[in-house]
Amino acid sequence: MLRFLLNGEVVTLDDVDPTGTTLDLLRYKLRLVGTKEGCSEGDCGACTVLVGELGDGERLVWRALNACILFVPMLDGRAVVTVEHLSRSGAQHPIQREMVERHASQCGFCTPGFVMSLYGRSVGALGTADEPIADVIAGNLCRCTGYGPILAAGAAVPAQWVDDPATVAALKALARSEPLALTYDDPLSGTRRRWFAPRTTDELAALVLAHPEARIVSGATDVGLWVTKQQRVLEDAIWTGEVADLRRMAEDEAGLTIGAGVRYSEARAALARLSPDLGELVRRIGGVQVRNAGTIGGNIANGSPIGDMPPALIALGALLTLRRCDERRRIPLEDYFLAYGRQDRRPGEFVEAVWIPRPRADAIVRVVKLSKRFDSDISAVCAAVALSIEDGVVREARVAFGGMAATPARAPACEAALIGRSWDAAAAERVADALAEDYAPLSDLRGSSAYRLAVAGNVLRRLWLETSEPDEAMSVLAEGLADG
Ligand SMILES: Cc1cc2nc3c(=O)[nH]c(=O)nc-3n(C[C@H](O)[C@H](O)[C@H](O)COP(=O)(O)OP(=O)(O)OC[C@H]3O[C@@H](n4cnc5c(N)ncnc54)[C@H](O)[C@@H]3O)c2cc1C
Ligand code: FES
Ligand code: FES
Repeated sequence: MLRFLLNGEVVTLDDVDPTGTTLDLLRYKLRLVGTKEGCSEGDCGACTVLVGELGDGERLVWRALNACILFVPMLDGRAVVTVEHLSRSGAQHPIQREMVERHASQCGFCTPGFVMSLYGRSVGALGTADEPIADVIAGNLCRCTGYGPILAAGAAVPAQWVDDPATVAALKALARSEPLALTYDDPLSGTRRRWFAPRTTDELAALVLAHPEARIVSGATDVGLWVTKQQRVLEDAIWTGEVADLRRMAEDEAGLTIGAGVRYSEARAALARLSPDLGELVRRIGGVQVRNAGTIGGNIANGSPIGDMPPALIALGALLTLRRCDERRRIPLEDYFLAYGRQDRRPGEFVEAVWIPRPRADAIVRVVKLSKRFDSDISAVCAAVALSIEDGVVREARVAFGGMAATPARAPACEAALIGRSWDAAAAERVADALAEDYAPLSDLRGSSAYRLAVAGNVLRRLWLETSEPDEAMSVLAEGLADG
């Protein structure tokens, strides 16, 4: 049995399909149709709801999430707020009033999603503090109004964290004594689905060992789409969202350890302390709703050639911890990616944490994401470079790219063209040329092979321009202009 708060009232559900979505539950079972379905793949934000859970110190943490890729068991013991709740007294919430008065809605289909994202900001939801309003709504798409009035409506309502003791008390009353486990017999497909929600890494390790064929689910920002878009049936699922010790981070002089269950929004500040470029990269992963759900561990484990974190973390020299039962092994992150769709994860094993060494104070770290749209888009190419330069000579170099090969991968020829040689304009050209030895990228809808090689080279040229003496950079630029 599943229990959660919906707009302040306890909802109890029996016989839950573990991979049913919150959006379908709200619209088709509970008849709360204010939450809209646009894309069903986490892209448009029309289905945005707020989900509150008790964080450390029992502080209530609200997250804006996309209901279309949020599996129903992920609501267990949590508080859900939908757009209907905002006008429960009969009067519009200030956000809704501002949206109306500023003509921030035309067809209105996207409007509940924008309202919920902006409402989240107004109650201090995760990932909104001190953020520009444009970033808060970057995960919401509007095809007809234009964003100016929506931004103005958001700016008109102050943002502050709101204490909510009644919801905290209600959530405590829902706390379980035993971990949630569900079994569901699907009459349509004739399959049996099970959902396990362990609460410690030891419980997780035991379950993954006992059910090596089960799908591990973290934020479901990849897995959710397998169900909603690819119509795949997940039989057994082990969810990491209740595993408190997988959601820890530890930072010291040597580096940063991020538990596999840490979400992007939670890791962003610590990553930015290692390198501002890492913080900026996280800012460009999905929108707030995706960053509030998706985990660093899920991004690595998924092994996509265009996942953004792996190239950046490989360039920094990250080590991945994999755990099977009580055994742990630590490998260089690049070694985890064996081939397209194949990773070095053995049966019964899971990703436990990633450790990222702190770059030396004088290191040059550059991470550049190139995508068709600035916000909320997948990379065509993600470039990451970490250099140590002494007296104009490159002492250490780690270069990695996403979008250039079947996996995120280092660039050994580029690195060899750098190490022990002067960091000058010729080096930038030499390294750009070496890219063709390292990679033979595919052509697809995000970019042709030639485009990918060209922009990857330009990232390295730009890095040299940005790090060289202004006079030298200007003369190289002038030469380039003269050559046309
Ligand atoms: C709208 C949208 C925009 C996106 N934008 C970006 C983007 O800009 N850049 C980007 O890189 N990605 C992007 N993604 C993809 C996705 O958000 C990331 O890959 C995310 O980090 C996946 O994490 P998750 O926790 O949601 O993983 P899940 O979907 O839960 O799982 C993903 C995979 O990892 C496995 N897995 C999860 N946790 C573990 C673990 N601890 N051990 C072993 N296996 C595990 C799962 O079995 C599954 O195979 C986007 C997704 C959406 C829907
Ligand atoms: S329906 Fe588009 S993000 Fe959910
Ligand atoms: S008002 Fe029509 S999509 Fe935004």
